[in-house]
This record gives sequence, C-alpha cells and structure tokens, in this order.
Amino acid sequence: MNEHTLSKRLERVAANVPAGARLADIGSDHGYLPVALMRRGLITSAVAGEVATTPFHAAQRSVRDNGLEQQITVRLADGLAAIEPHDGITAISLCGMGGETIRDILESGKQHLSGQERLILQPNGGEQPLRQWLMDNGYTILSEELLLENRFYYEIIVAERAGPVAYTAEQLYFGPLQMQARSPAFIAKWQRMLRQKHKTLSSFERARQAVSQEKRQEIAQQARWIAALLA
Ligand SMILES: C[S@@+](CC[C@H](N)C(=O)[O-])C[C@H]1O[C@@H](n2cnc3c(N)ncnc32)[C@H](O)[C@@H]1O
Repeated sequence: MNEHTLSKRLERVAANVPAGARLADIGSDHGYLPVALMRRGLITSAVAGEVATTPFHAAQRSVRDNGLEQQITVRLADGLAAIEPHDGITAISLCGMGGETIRDILESGKQHLSGQERLILQPNGGEQPLRQWLMDNGYTILSEELLLENRFYYEIIVAERAGPVAYTAEQLYFGPLQMQARSPAFIAKWQRMLRQKHKTLSSFERARQAVSQEKRQEIAQQARWIAALLA
C-alpha cells in the first residue's frame, strides 16, 4: 500500500469521501488516504492529523514527495485538535483504530465539530460503542459497508448529524443498515462470530470462578442475538 495504491479497505473509505470535500484524516499515519484523494483530484484540501511523531513525519514526507504542501496540512495533534476553524472541514475520516478509540476521540474533541461534517469511520472492532456514541450525539448512519481483506472483516460507517435517531440494542450491535441488507459478507462474519462466542462461553465454563456472571450473561445474550439473526 502507498499513496498511489490504497488497500482495499482504504479504497472503500476513499469512495465514501464526498467529492470536493475538505477532509480531516485523523490518525492519518503515512497520510496515504488524503494524498491519494488529492492526487486523484477528488478533494479540495485536507488536514492530516497524527498524535505520534513517527507517523507525523511519515505523513509530512508523503505530502512533500507528492508536492501537495499547499493543499494538505499535516499537524501533530491529539484527535480532533488537529482541526482549526479556518480549515472549513466538511468531512472527517477516522480509520484503522478501535471503535472505542474513535469514540473517545470524537467525544473528547466535540468542540472541534461544527455538526455539518460527514463522518467516515472505519473501526477495527468496537463498532457497537461507536454506534452508541453516534446515536447519543444525534448522528444518523447513512451507509455501512463490510468488507473482508486478509481474513479480517472491516466495517465502514458513514454518519451525519441529522437530528435525533433511535436504534435498538440489536441495531447498535449489528449495524442498522447491514441488518437490513444481509449481504453475504455480513452473514459470513456473524457465522464466524457465533462460533467464537460459543468457544468463549465454553472457556468460561471451564474457568467458572474467573469470569463474572455479568460478562457471561453479556456474551450469552450476544450469542442469542446472533443465532436469531442467522436463523
Ligand atoms: C493503525 S493506524 C491507521 C492509519 C490509517 N488511518 C489507516 O486506516 O490505514 C492508527 C494511527 O492513528 C494514530 N492515532 C491514534 N490515536 C490518535 C489520536 N488520539 N489522535 C491522532 N492520531 C491518533 C496512531 O498514531 C496511528 O498512526
């Protein structure tokens, strides 16, 4: 993967960035996503935010090597603090981090959100707490995608603030739109997850003392939801 050839995962993220966007890519690492989008003429400008110095320097290098210093600003900052009001950001991507981390970045950086931005989120697990945050903060899920790359399932969640929305506990767990669409990848993912839940429950049985009743009930509830979904 590089700024010319994105991974399948980042290629699908790129496809969800609106044409002409002013993008903030938070946790940009090498900056491949904003650089690729800018090289293709698909966005107007970008901010690449990084909290760690090594990826920050890598992003600076990608931007410089592609002669995009005028269009892409690389900032060393924690989460949404990379965004400044004069950037006029219209879309924010947060990709390749755990769902809880993405949620925490959104929560702690709320003051940097105008509420007009499209969020393009690609959590590595922890989708449920992330969807919970979206619902609690008035974001509607506009689209959801699930893809398999190198034996890992990745979700892409696109959301905009469009007023109050109420998702059920199952919708927050599975994804409201994915539940409706029931794509082959979605079914295959949850068949795999059900096998994992059953394994986890069996291991709990063997280590009865070590696992709280609450944890066991939570996993058992999830296994019931998945079994019902696949029935
Ligand atoms: C696994 S990489 C993902 C890179 C790229 N977004 C992708 O999807 O391929 C996660 C990056 O997020 C950065 N990161 C983690 N927490 C962050 C935060 N609070 N603010 C900015 N960057 C963060 C890490 O330093 C790391 O470079």
